[in-house]
Amino acid sequence: MHRSAIAVLASGRGSNLKSILEAMKDPAWPAEVALVLSDVQKAPALGVAREAGIEAIAIDPDRKGPRLSSNAETTILAALAERAIRCLVLAGFMRILSRSFLRSFEGPVLNIHPSLLPAFPGLDAQGQAFRHGVRVAGATVHLVDEGIDTGPIVAQSAVTVHANDDRDALANRILEAEHRLYPEAIRKVLTVPYVVEGRRLRFHEEETSRS
Ligand code: GRF
Repeated sequence: MHRSAIAVLASGRGSNLKSILEAMKDPAWPAEVALVLSDVQKAPALGVAREAGIEAIAIDPDRKGPRLSSNAETTILAALAERAIRCLVLAGFMRILSRSFLRSFEGPVLNIHPSLLPAFPGLDAQGQAFRHGVRVAGATVHLVDEGIDTGPIVAQSAVTVHANDDRDALANRILEAEHRLYPEAIRKVLTVPYVVEGRRLRFHEEETSRS
């Protein structure tokens, strides 16, 4: 089976990257992680990639704040083009990609966020949900647009908040859900045709499946 080359952008510990690399061991999974990039020189995610024998590169973000410099974005785009990357997967990537970056990269750009969007976008979504007192929390995979956690929703997974949870217990339960959700969402985006109508992403199989 032909596998699409994908790249992962990560800033931190890389547990979602690990779950993606685990999924890759299944020959039926349709993607091959060809490159891992980080804006953080010492990100553990780079080590996770290298240990798995995958090329891993730190890109100097070239400026402070939530965005990359346009030079840094150009460097990333060149690295993706050189390796014929078809899909870009953000996994704990802490910077916002510019409109021009998103227009320049032709394939889908995916992100995972630890809440049931549109609730609790932004930082510490798990803490926001916990303090809000929700009974159900979860994770969302979405297409990346210019906003923060605002793009069309690809897949979601809900978890129950238990009475004796603290913020970290809830965050761990959400993370476990993320690790199941992301590889499956990547599989679907790469194998099932879809259209985006306004905010809604509709997979073609949804038209005919299940009566
Ligand atoms: C995850 O909770 C993800 O949803 C959020 O950042 C965290 C990254 O964790 N975007 P890891 O680096 O994948 O372990």
